[in-house]
Amino acid sequence: EVADRTRIILEIFKKRAQSREGKLQVELAEAQYETGRLVGGRGVDMSGQGKGVLGAGEAVANTQRKAYKRKIGFIKKRLIEVKQTRVQQNQNRRQEERPLISMVGYTNAGKSTLLNALTKREDVVVRDQLFTTVDPTTRKIFLGETQDGGRQFAFLTDTVGFIRKLPHELVDGFESTLDMVATGDLVLMVVDASDPRRDQKEQVVLDTLDRIGSKVPILRVYNKVDQLAEADRKPLPDTVWIAAEKGTGLQELKDEIKQRVKPLIEKHSVTY
Ligand code: GTP
Repeated sequence: EVADRTRIILEIFKKRAQSREGKLQVELAEAQYETGRLVGGRGVDMSGQGKGVLGAGEAVANTQRKAYKRKIGFIKKRLIEVKQTRVQQNQNRRQEERPLISMVGYTNAGKSTLLNALTKREDVVVRDQLFTTVDPTTRKIFLGETQDGGRQFAFLTDTVGFIRKLPHELVDGFESTLDMVATGDLVLMVVDASDPRRDQKEQVVLDTLDRIGSKVPILRVYNKVDQLAEADRKPLPDTVWIAAEKGTGLQELKDEIKQRVKPLIEKHSVTY
């Protein structure tokens, strides 16, 4: 049932949300979901109920609806404040003028695994579950050295895993975490290449990028090639084949990233 699915997704998001913004987004989605479930609200089947008479249930629902409306207004206000802080933080980061690379992909594509592999730190939680990532994580990624021995870095940020048919109450909240994507320099679209529904899932991600108005160049990262037959790995433009978990293809991926953000890192390498 649709309602149950939304509730399950909300519960999972609730457990995973760590940032203030993430938590507020879940609260907002929850309040919107609950309003919709009130008598006479969206998604409630009215066919069996007496029409034209304002029953006791509806009167209560009206009171509750007002209470939710206030709550929603309050959360939205808080979200705007928190978001402003995040935007400011992003801008500070941007002032360092390091390239900003964001990673997007369907849930379970392997984004967290790749983020770990590229940044060689273990503290991003990786689990074989839906929605490992609710809050975006940003790390520095070392791309190589300049001719004068400087170190070339970019920022790499993970985003919430996309899922097909994200319940509409959740779309607004979680798409705001994608703001960073549209302001970045490169998008790594991580795809589970071994997934039988690879193409459909890829399309969900592309549609979402479209919806948020991202014009940022995309490098497609086909992950989990260890699960694929050699014959299924055809060379494609703007595509790198990797196995994040095994470390396969990571150097090639870094080279491709470097090539694409080169003009930016050449200006801003730091020497230690
Ligand atoms: P969300 O946070 O839910 O969006 O997921 P994610 O895209 O961050 O995926 P995650 O990194 O959590 O990986 C999902 C599953 O795929 C885990 O069980 C990983 O161990 C597995 N996985 C990641 N990379 C590879 C790979 O190269 N090969 C194989 N066979 N499995 C992989």
